[in-house]
Amino acid sequence: MRLRITRRRFGMLTIASTLVVAKDAIASRIANANLTKNIFMQTSPKTSTAVAKTQEPGRIDVTLRINGKSHTLQIEPRVTLLDALRERIGLTGTKKGCDRGQCGACTVLVDGRRINSCLTLAVMQEGAEITTIEGLARGDELHPMQAAFIKHDGFQCGYCTPGQIVSAVGLLAEGCPTSDEAIRECMSGNLCRCGAYPGIVAAVREVHQTQTSNG
Ligand code: FES
Ligand code: FES
Repeated sequence: MRLRITRRRFGMLTIASTLVVAKDAIASRIANANLTKNIFMQTSPKTSTAVAKTQEPGRIDVTLRINGKSHTLQIEPRVTLLDALRERIGLTGTKKGCDRGQCGACTVLVDGRRINSCLTLAVMQEGAEITTIEGLARGDELHPMQAAFIKHDGFQCGYCTPGQIVSAVGLLAEGCPTSDEAIRECMSGNLCRCGAYPGIVAAVREVHQTQTSNG
C-alpha cells in the first residue's frame, strides 16, 4: 500500500518525533541527576539519610574558607569558584570577564597562590584558604597594593582592577623577580583593556621596594 504524505501529515510526524526525542533527553537528565545524587550519598548510609532529607537533588554541601570566614553552600558540583563567590556568597569584587581563563579578571589567591577562579570548581577548593579582593584591606586601611594602584593611576574603568591587585599581591608573595620587564611578564595573565599597564607596573614596583626596604 502506498502511503501518501501530505505537508500536514509531514508536519505532524516531525512534531511527534521531536516530542519523542525531547522526552528521551529529559528522562536521561533525570536519570543522570539521580545517579549524581547516589554517587554523593554513598559515603555513609547514616549521613545519606540526613542528606536526602535536606539536599536538593544534584546538589552537595561545600564549605569554603574565604577571607578568614567559613561559608557552607549547597551547590551543584559543576559550579565554578567564581560563580560561587559572586552568585552564592555575594562577593562580587571578583570579576567575570571571559569566563574561560584568558583575562585574569577573576584572579583570587588559594593558599597564597594566584588562580583563575573561573577555571576551578568550588568543590575542589574545600579546605583551602581563599583570599579575594574583599579580604585584602584591614578595616578602613587599604592594602599597600590597593593604595599604590590609586597613587599611580593603575586603572581607568576599574573592571580588571580587583584581579590585577590580587595578582600583584600574589606575584610578590611568589617571589617573582621585580624588574619592570619581569613584573610585566608575571602579570601577563591579567589583561587591561584600558591599557593602564604603566601605572600597574609602577604600583607593583613601589610596593616591592617598600617591602624590601622594610626588611
Ligand atoms: Fe576568569 Fe577571564 S574571567 S580568566
Ligand atoms: Fe579598565 Fe583595566 S582599568 S580594563
